[in-house]
Amino acid sequence: MTTQHIGRALAALAGLALCAAAAANEDRAIGQGAFEKACMACHGDPPVARAPSRAQLAKMPPEKILQAQLSGLMALQAAALNELEKRAVAIYLSDIEWGTVTAERADEQLAMCENSTPLTAAAFDQPHWVGWGLDAAHSHFQPASQAGLTAAYLDGLELKWAFGHAGATTTTTQPAVVGDRIFIGSPTGAIYALDRKTGCAHWKYATAGEVRAAIIVAPRADGSLGLYAGDRKGWFYALDANSGELLWRLRPEAHPWAMITSSPYLHDGTLYFGIASFEELAGGSPSYECCTFRGSVVALDAESGARKWHSYVIDEEPRPTKKMTSGVQLYGPSGAAVWSQPTIDTRAGVLYVTTGDSYSAPAADTSDAIVAMDLATGAIKWHKQMTADDAFTTACVAPNADPVAKEGCGPDIDFGSSAILRELPGGGRILLAGQKSGVMHAIDPDAEGAIVWQKRLSPGGVLGGIEWGFAADDEHLYVPISDVWENRATPGHAGGIYKLRFADGAEVWNTPAAAPDCTDIAGCNAGQPAAATLIPGVVFSGAMDGHMRAYDTATGKVIWDVDTKGSHDTVNGVPASGGSIKGAGVTVVDGWVYFSSGYGLFGMPGNVFLAYGPKAAP
Ligand code: HEC
Repeated sequence: MTTQHIGRALAALAGLALCAAAAANEDRAIGQGAFEKACMACHGDPPVARAPSRAQLAKMPPEKILQAQLSGLMALQAAALNELEKRAVAIYLSDIEWGTVTAERADEQLAMCENSTPLTAAAFDQPHWVGWGLDAAHSHFQPASQAGLTAAYLDGLELKWAFGHAGATTTTTQPAVVGDRIFIGSPTGAIYALDRKTGCAHWKYATAGEVRAAIIVAPRADGSLGLYAGDRKGWFYALDANSGELLWRLRPEAHPWAMITSSPYLHDGTLYFGIASFEELAGGSPSYECCTFRGSVVALDAESGARKWHSYVIDEEPRPTKKMTSGVQLYGPSGAAVWSQPTIDTRAGVLYVTTGDSYSAPAADTSDAIVAMDLATGAIKWHKQMTADDAFTTACVAPNADPVAKEGCGPDIDFGSSAILRELPGGGRILLAGQKSGVMHAIDPDAEGAIVWQKRLSPGGVLGGIEWGFAADDEHLYVPISDVWENRATPGHAGGIYKLRFADGAEVWNTPAAAPDCTDIAGCNAGQPAAATLIPGVVFSGAMDGHMRAYDTATGKVIWDVDTKGSHDTVNGVPASGGSIKGAGVTVVDGWVYFSSGYGLFGMPGNVFLAYGPKAAP
């Protein structure tokens, strides 16, 4: 090439670079414009209640922000944007370069197990963990013979392996452990069967949506093992636990915004679980005809998937109510999602579910309530509402929402955790339900929910009070507190854990939250929203500061504390880090402790699943 040619080529390249820079500037302008038009009302500074901040959105991969707008949580909010704008807003918001993280990379790097001896029903003779609350009464208590762990052995634990969910910023799963397998749900839309001691993979099944509820494994009539789980797109799956092959799947609730966060409970061949929805988020969109979803409980035959019954917690079908000032029609009654696992009471022949807030005002009288349904038919036997007039959608907090959509707004203090059923030491029974309001309610299940006692443990609020669950032994409750939103000004006061005597609510001890060591990081606070897990002598509680702590049940003293923040090497080669801990509690089996870390919505993002086991002999 002559000098002249080189000069021309360089000039052309420089021109290209200039063009590229101009194009990038233009994309940025489109992204910023789209953000200001469709997103800033809720994700501005400060963001509205529950919405991730700009700093938190910046930590999400742009692909995830795009997916949220195309088919995820933000589809309605982004409805006014064209595809180019949706992509531009994703690139504009994220600090991560487009194309650097994709879910597919996880597959390429799955470390497959060399041997795969099929599991049989005999595996249930060994220590195992199946389900969210573990038993029908939902105690979240793992007995000594299954736990294989005591306070004295906690210091003998070390991190054995970690697994990364590619591209995810939030992860919470309550795995099932049976034999040498651990089955985990993934925020990337998958269920994995892994070896519980090494993390190598037996199989992966791709689901339509995120799997965050507990997975159930149980023997089937033909001697094989079935695996059952629901996803956040509203699908429910039955798989062969050995091969990962699909046996049947169905979407029991047809509402487009339906999702399953409730863990199934298998009783006598029937799977019982609740249905929740995203419609509460859609409510803030000026064009959305809010709202038509009603919470419900489904009973399915585990063998075939045949529906035994499907019972709505709001009897009445939604009908047109008022119109927004823009003329958009509104509907009601709606809401009362069932987020948590049903509690089974074979003695009374009923199941109990706790419900979320209503969407449309006036609120249904079965929202923010405890509802008893006939086990055989699903018919509502009685209900006890704890907060009346709690109608809430994102319209209530979106500054530019239609004034009519904002009428009759309530405080958004659902029940997110399951009720626990207990025998009273002096005879009789008691049903305990913890609410986001910060109040623990004790009612009499044999007297249609008559109140026995109520105790306020914290100020509570939209992300506050008692969030994902508490645990119980034969006499006491262990209740972690989450005031993650309410205490943003004083992040060190957002958590804490209480031990209460369930017969009368008397406090035995309360351990305030430890001062968080990361208040310089957005989303770090001392809130303890994750479900508690109890083994004899020890209660585990994860926190938004990224720490998993174990407390001595006798004294409330912290006896084990691991910080999961920061990066972890993973068995599947996916770059992974720990962050806030929210959602499921720890799974304790045979001396091993398993849990996930990372909550990017309004905490510190992360995408890691962690397995702690006995330290190798020196
Ligand atoms: C009416 C209020 C509102 C508007 C408008 C809104 N968002 Fe959101 N957004 C929320 C809330 C609330 C959440 C948290 C959802 C939850 O509670 O799970 C959220 C969550 C998200 C998430 C996380 C989703 C996930 O699956 O983790 C992303 C990404 C997001 N928003 C992006 C956007 C973008 C981009 C826009 C504009 C096109 C937008 N949002 C407009 C309220 C809003």
